[in-house]
Amino acid sequence: MQSELPSATAESAVPTAAPGAAPGSDPAPAAALAAHYYTDPLVAEAETEHVFARSWQLVCHESDLPGPGARLAATVAGREALVVRTEDGGLAAHLNVCRHRGTRLVSAPEPSGKAIRCPYHGWTYKLDGTLVGAPEARQIPCLDKPSLGLYPVRVESFLGFVFVNLDRDAVPLAEQCAGLAEAVGRYTGPDLIPVGRYRIHDLAGAEVQRANWKVVVDNYLEGYHVPVAHPGLMRLFDYQNYVASELRESYALFQVPIRDKPSSNFVERLYQRLAAPMPGLTQADRRVWRYAVIYPNTLIDFYPDHVLAWTALPTAQDRVAIPGGYYTKHGVGMRTRLARRLNIHIGWITNHEDAELVTRVQQGLSTPGFAPGPLSRRESAVGWFADRIRASLAGAGR
Ligand code: FES
Ligand SMILES: [Fe+2]
Repeated sequence: MQSELPSATAESAVPTAAPGAAPGSDPAPAAALAAHYYTDPLVAEAETEHVFARSWQLVCHESDLPGPGARLAATVAGREALVVRTEDGGLAAHLNVCRHRGTRLVSAPEPSGKAIRCPYHGWTYKLDGTLVGAPEARQIPCLDKPSLGLYPVRVESFLGFVFVNLDRDAVPLAEQCAGLAEAVGRYTGPDLIPVGRYRIHDLAGAEVQRANWKVVVDNYLEGYHVPVAHPGLMRLFDYQNYVASELRESYALFQVPIRDKPSSNFVERLYQRLAAPMPGLTQADRRVWRYAVIYPNTLIDFYPDHVLAWTALPTAQDRVAIPGGYYTKHGVGMRTRLARRLNIHIGWITNHEDAELVTRVQQGLSTPGFAPGPLSRRESAVGWFADRIRASLAGAGR
């Protein structure tokens, strides 16, 4: 176990892959993170404040807050944010704590309403967080309502997904990820609707993997393991053209074409035949899968037939919950619905394979004396992520 936090290397410049460039022509990737970043509780502790409390955290989809007064609580950097739909149809977020004596305001699903009422003594707040009343207020000297509103949290809707940020000075997500919206905005929009029972904000129902959260993100950031670990994807993918199309300060975007050659596997072959673009997509999108990471832990798959948005939330230094949800567009036909089912089935197989791998990585990383070897150019984005983490933790002295 390390007793000190690592310092960032001076070079936190973000390497950028040339869009569409073959992996062999890119510059050498940055170094992987040293093992203690994945195993040291001090690093995990520092990440809470220096990574998660300063970044945009995915909490739900717009559809999870259907009308004025709808609300939910989401875990963000060791706190809870209370996200609400305001009366004008906008979004507001506050810390989920009453300003009187600290009661958690909202727990599991609660009815909508025009106010947020604390279940302890009944202090009542407007949806925008303003304190409007307290029972027997005359008995409370110094009840300065304007200064006792709920603690505000930044909230933003991006691509129809709701993010919060505990950093009041954070650059808006839409600004940080303008290029991402341009590249994949057509997959999302107000007509995106959830399918199935999984929801991003359902932490209790989320799968838990036995690895540090960064092992899961690393794994998502590279296709180098596909030929060895995912035989199904290897039959589907045009692996040579699996590329990081964009590596920017705040996000990474990958794309991989789906092969025309029919897979030898029945389900995959049927998927290849049925895959059809959702409304708003182009015919070219029919044969491409895209993956995006919004730094640090939001992961979104963009398929022709659905969108899968999920997040990697550490529950311990070697455990990560991965809540997420599937989305499709209004008006997709039977063919696309069937393709989606097949694709989700393929995705579960891939996920199962990945879950075993990330467990093994975590087990190996705790081997005393282990230092990571060099990254392949196919793992440039793992180096990108390592640089971003090193930079985030640079100021995290103990
Ligand atoms: S703690 Fe909320 S009203 Fe008392
Ligand atoms: Fe994988």
